[in-house]
Amino acid sequence: MFTFDQRLIGDESTLAFGALLGRNLRSGDRLFLHGPLGAGKTTLVRGLMHGLEHPDSREVASPTFAIHHRYDGGRLSVDHLDLYRLTAPVDLAAEGLDTVIDDPSSVVVIEWPERLQIGSLSPTISIHLTLLGEGSRGMRLTGRDGLESIRQSTSVLR
Ligand SMILES: Nc1ncnc2c1ncn2[C@@H]1O[C@H](COP(=O)(O)OP(=O)(O)OP(=O)(O)O)[C@@H](O)[C@H]1O
Ligand SMILES: [Mg+2]
Repeated sequence: MFTFDQRLIGDESTLAFGALLGRNLRSGDRLFLHGPLGAGKTTLVRGLMHGLEHPDSREVASPTFAIHHRYDGGRLSVDHLDLYRLTAPVDLAAEGLDTVIDDPSSVVVIEWPERLQIGSLSPTISIHLTLLGEGSRGMRLTGRDGLESIRQSTSVLR
């Protein structure tokens, strides 16, 4: 495990960081995205989809009614969950989302993972976004071995 901090200046930077991360993901990765409303979580997912060469990366939205969206067609399939609207802790299996837990060939990305039932799923990568004012965000990544090279690639963010 390693930790990496980066300031993201403007949404272009969040998109670029997401794309960098996407290029470094492997099947079975589970990404937890923490941060308050408007922190840039969905923007980061959009960048990530671009990095995974999904043709529809710009269409990624905060799912308003469905909590789950599956995207096929890129280098890896992506299961995108946004649990914001849930009021009780979610048991993914009880929600019929067993496939999300069990599919080793896709990547799972979860916004508001605080809403997961404890022990329901554990992340291989956690990102915490913080608001630093109008034009920038703080980003802390804690991740599995093999992602350290991301640190050397941050020139794409400026
Ligand atoms: N690094 C950044 N600096 C400034 N603005 C940013 C940055 N990253 C994203 N934004 C902007 O922040 C706004 C909110 O982004 P986004 O919808 O991705 O947040 P979110 O965390 O998914 O919010 P929610 O919890 O409501 O779903 C957007 O206008 C986006 O362009
Ligand atoms: Mg969102």
